[in-house]
Formats: sequence, C-alpha cells, structure tokens
Amino acid sequence: MTEIRRIGIVGAGPMGVGIAHVAALAGYDVVVHDIDASRLARLPQSLEANLARQIKRGSLHDADARAAQKRVHTSPELRSLADRDLVIESVNEDEEIKRKLYESLKGVLKADAILATDTSSISITRLAAATDRAPRFLGMHFMNPVPMMELVEIIPGIATTPDVTATATEVARKMGKTPVAAQDFPAFMVNRILAPMINEAIYVLYEGVGTVESIDTACKLGLHHPMGPLALADFIGLDIFLSIMKVLYEGLADQKYRPCPLLIKYVEAGWLGRKSGRGFYDYSVEPPKPTR
Ligand SMILES: NC(=O)c1ccc[n+]([C@@H]2O[C@H](COP(=O)([O-])OP(=O)(O)OC[C@H]3O[C@@H](n4cnc5c(N)ncnc54)[C@H](O)[C@@H]3O)[C@@H](O)[C@H]2O)c1
Repeated sequence: MTEIRRIGIVGAGPMGVGIAHVAALAGYDVVVHDIDASRLARLPQSLEANLARQIKRGSLHDADARAAQKRVHTSPELRSLADRDLVIESVNEDEEIKRKLYESLKGVLKADAILATDTSSISITRLAAATDRAPRFLGMHFMNPVPMMELVEIIPGIATTPDVTATATEVARKMGKTPVAAQDFPAFMVNRILAPMINEAIYVLYEGVGTVESIDTACKLGLHHPMGPLALADFIGLDIFLSIMKVLYEGLADQKYRPCPLLIKYVEAGWLGRKSGRGFYDYSVEPPKPTR
C-alpha cells in the first residue's frame, strides 16, 4: 500500500471543509485549495464551529481539536498540492469543471500521488480518462455532513489498481469511517437508492398528493427516517440533487429516473434549498416554513 501522510483537498465547499476536518483529526497534514478566496477565508471559522459542536457533544477533546486545526492549511495556489500523497477533489458537481481541474493538475501532482474524487454520481472511469493517472484515480464518496456520517463509498474505475483501492480504503478507516466498496455505475450505491425516493417525494408534492409538511412528517413517522425527503433535498442542494437525477436518467436510460418537473422549476428559479435560503422550505424564518 502507498503510505499517505499529506492530503490535499480541492474545493472548500461544505464537503471539502468536512473532509479536511476528519483528515486533520486522523492526524494527516492537510492543505485545502480553492479558486474562490472568500471560501478559503471562511474555512477556519467553519472548521472551528464544526469542531466545537463535536466538543459540546462530548465526542472530542479540546486539545485534539486544537491539534487538528493546526494541521489544516489553506492555499489559493494549485502548486500547494505538489507534495501531497493523496489529493481529494471536491469541486462543484460539474463534469466540465472537474475535467478542467484535472487538466491543470497535470504536471503539478507527484508522479505517485493518488487522486480521488468526491463526486456524488459522475462515472469514475470517464473522469479517470481526463487525468494523467487513471490507475491511481478512484472515487471516495463521503456523505454530508462529513464529520457526522460514518460511510465512505470506495469506487475504483476500470483502470484503478488494487493497491490504490486498498490505500484509499485504509485512509477512510483511519478517518474513522466505514468504507464500503461500490462498482462504478451511475450514482454508485447510496445515491442510486436514495435519489429516486427523494424524486418520488417531489412528484408526490407536484401531484398534490401531499404538502411539504405532510410528506416529510409521513416519512419521519412512517419510515423512521431522521429527516423528511424534502428537507433532505434542501440540505443536499436542489441543483446538486438535480444533477444526480440527470446522471441516473441519462446513464441508465430508464424513464423511472426522470427528474420531477417541479424540481427543475425550483432550480431554474434559483431556489436551491438551504444554501440559497429557499427550497421546499423558507429558511429566512425559524423554524423554516414549508413553501407549498
Ligand atoms: N453536498 C452534498 O450533500 C454532497 C454529498 C456527497 C458528495 N458531494 C460531492 O462533493 C463535491 C463538492 O460538493 P460541495 O457541496 O462541497 O460543493 P460546492 O459547489 O458547495 O463547492 C465547490 C467548491 O469548489 C470550488 N472550485 C470550483 N472549481 C475549482 C477549481 N478549479 N479549483 C479549486 N476550487 C474550485 C468552488 O469555488 C467551491 O468553493 C461535489 O462533487 C458533490 O457532488 C456533495
């Protein structure tokens, strides 16, 4: 197995920040790179707030949190990834953006560095072909919020070597996660199962079978889900969720994955869920108010 000591993360969105959090707590030296300086500037506060939540719950000692914070560095320079043993890409769920990034990473990363992607749904094999290291490229699909969720899906592409898969599996374990292997099919395992359920909940709303409140209450009480499907869609981000549905619809060519027209309308309106302040709920008020 390849020894991993230094980890690079590209993208300081909620996922990148979460991965930096668990990587630093596991003892790795972490560099987070983003092209958006404001995202990098916000990272220390987000990390501090997320660590404080764990301390409050009693699952983390203050000294360990301080040590982890010291292990996380940010950089607007791509070059900062040059000495990294493992780079986890967590930029927008947009194939073009990911491809362009992989192009610019050529000649920056060490020859033996492993490159992983946190994509929720895009083909690992296709993404691998856009890199200069298909044998050392794979999917490490973390769940949101990363510090709380136990699972990481490990998805080798067709060219990924067993050594690289084993190394990434061990890194996930060291981060305190339970790795599960999934094959490289559209949306892998968890989202292949979850996304059609959320999409169906949006159809149920669209057809007027239920309201936002009744659908979420029904799933929480009737299925023992900790969160209703519409609240979960808002949490994921409706644009990200729509792109997952499109990957399923196009990748599996089956009508059953057709994104609900109401979902498309919400995304067109810029109602993207929590991050934009409005989705199936209005987040400008406390508690958030159902919008339909
Ligand atoms: N949000 C979720 O629930 C969730 C769950 C699991 C996996 N994911 C996946 O994780 C990835 C990131 O998700 P997110 O919600 O944190 O994304 P996000 O869109 O909130 O953030 C992406 C970040 O990447 C940065 N970025 C874009 N292009 C860049 C480049 N060329 N170089 C450096 N930085 C660049 C952007 O400035 C932004 O800060 C996506 O692939 C997504 O599908 C998301």
